[in-house]
Amino acid sequence: MGDLICHFPVTTLPGEELLPAGTVLTQTTMQDMIAAAPEEPAYQAPLLQYATVRQDILSFCHHPSYSIIFADTPSTDKLLGLMEATKLALPLLEVLDFFKSHDYYTYRHILMVFALSMLLAQELIDDPRDLMREALAAPTHDFGKVSVPLEILRKTEPLNAIERQRLEHHSVAGYVLLSYYLKDYNSPAALTARDHHERKDGSGYPAGIHLTDRMVEIVAISDIFDALIAKRPYRPVSYDHRTALEEITRMAEKGLVSWDIVQTLISFNRKDRPPHQQITVSREARGTPPVDNVYGQVVDSEKEQS
Ligand SMILES: [Fe+2]
Ligand SMILES: [Fe+2]
Repeated sequence: MGDLICHFPVTTLPGEELLPAGTVLTQTTMQDMIAAAPEEPAYQAPLLQYATVRQDILSFCHHPSYSIIFADTPSTDKLLGLMEATKLALPLLEVLDFFKSHDYYTYRHILMVFALSMLLAQELIDDPRDLMREALAAPTHDFGKVSVPLEILRKTEPLNAIERQRLEHHSVAGYVLLSYYLKDYNSPAALTARDHHERKDGSGYPAGIHLTDRMVEIVAISDIFDALIAKRPYRPVSYDHRTALEEITRMAEKGLVSWDIVQTLISFNRKDRPPHQQITVSREARGTPPVDNVYGQVVDSEKEQS
């Protein structure tokens, strides 16, 4: 891919500017920035044991929007055991505190994309090393939103073109921030933050690459599903499951996302849990998107604002 450009400054949570607007992300830029980063903080803590994370994930899993997906308690316990191994350094854990206090939607979203990605990955990925890689990358996918003004994250009206650009900048900002804190611009967490809005057909952002990484795609599909079924600042009524799955099915039909990952997601939304290979979906749209949704009114793009 060509070099990405930071169209807006990238700042850390405490407000330190890592890169100014206009920076081209060449290998040298990234290496110089990483060289200036403090030595890796010694203190790392399991994400699930941090603050109220574990009890919050459990309560979100029991919410009606996720109660079928996480209905099987032994499987959910096993999943939490797998998620338990994920450790993050303190400056990254503090990002969770920030969102919990200032943008609760994003806090909940980060934790549920983590849980849902791990659930799908357990089903689809055989290699335990790949699973561990996924566990490190999913919860940090939206950390670049610390570089997006809160008034944009919380806005209830459609975004204008500049605001949308600032919001979409979270993928590049997350790539820079995670490269800096992990001192590695090829780490799975940094690459997932950068690429989770890319699509298989090249219609995503920031680079418009043809997404081929299965692990990133699992995060991407979990991200879309959670964004649709959650109440958003700009959409007080969420999509019901059926309509959300129809939206994602349409994306698979158009070649934006992989059908087998979508089938696995659909299987977890059915009480009888058929093997994902047996999932077929009626092509006829039967669901109804929420009425007071301003999502379709965005002036410059119809991409989901997640
Ligand atoms: Fe997200
Ligand atoms: Fe995102």
